[in-house]
Amino acid sequence: MKKLFILGNWKSNKTLQEALAWKQSFTENTHLDLDTITVIVCPAFHHLSLFEGVTYFSLGVQDLSPFTSGAYTGAISAGMVKDIASYALLGHSERRKHFGETDEIVADKVKQALAVNLRPVVCVSHLDQVKKLKELVPEFTKSGLILYEPLFAIGSGKSDTPENANKTAQEIDNIIPSVPILYGGSVVAENVKGFVTQPYLSGVGVGGASLDPQKFIQLIQAVL
Ligand code: PGA
Repeated sequence: MKKLFILGNWKSNKTLQEALAWKQSFTENTHLDLDTITVIVCPAFHHLSLFEGVTYFSLGVQDLSPFTSGAYTGAISAGMVKDIASYALLGHSERRKHFGETDEIVADKVKQALAVNLRPVVCVSHLDQVKKLKELVPEFTKSGLILYEPLFAIGSGKSDTPENANKTAQEIDNIIPSVPILYGGSVVAENVKGFVTQPYLSGVGVGGASLDPQKFIQLIQAVL
């Protein structure tokens, strides 16, 4: 049986208190057997230490500096978070759109993640981005994951069909074989099973439905 990944991306949301309330609600109310699923939660940087010691899920960051630690005001380097996070979500379409991230910048971030053993989860919306990733960071395949997110499906409430997502995942697999491929875009408890049962998909990325701990638990339960 393939190992499945469920990655929750909180994006630019939650005060410290809200994050603590989420943590309490999630950990108190859930007694799931997660042997076959890796749950990854990607809160904002300032939340990370709230989750120190949590074993129930892995922590990811939503972004990284393309540089090493040093004189880069405002940037969070891979080295700064490597002790607390295990995954780095990189190249999300919102970062590409609102922060001008190019494939080259994303590639630099991926290299930073790999250098400190953070597993990069690279978001792509087009096959060209996959080709570029392979060309710029061939070593990505060692530990990386791909999160395929068609732009129309992100935050719209209109997910792609599982069959379409699987077809694109197969095309991605043809370019970069043997890398786990996740689907993201309006995934909720009601539709998640359709995606994780596709042969070329190894999990899902979840935005909106990860913000409410109960909705997130329901989504995980729907996969089990
Ligand atoms: P959504 O976001 O689940 O709210 O559509 C997905 C994402 O951007 O990862």
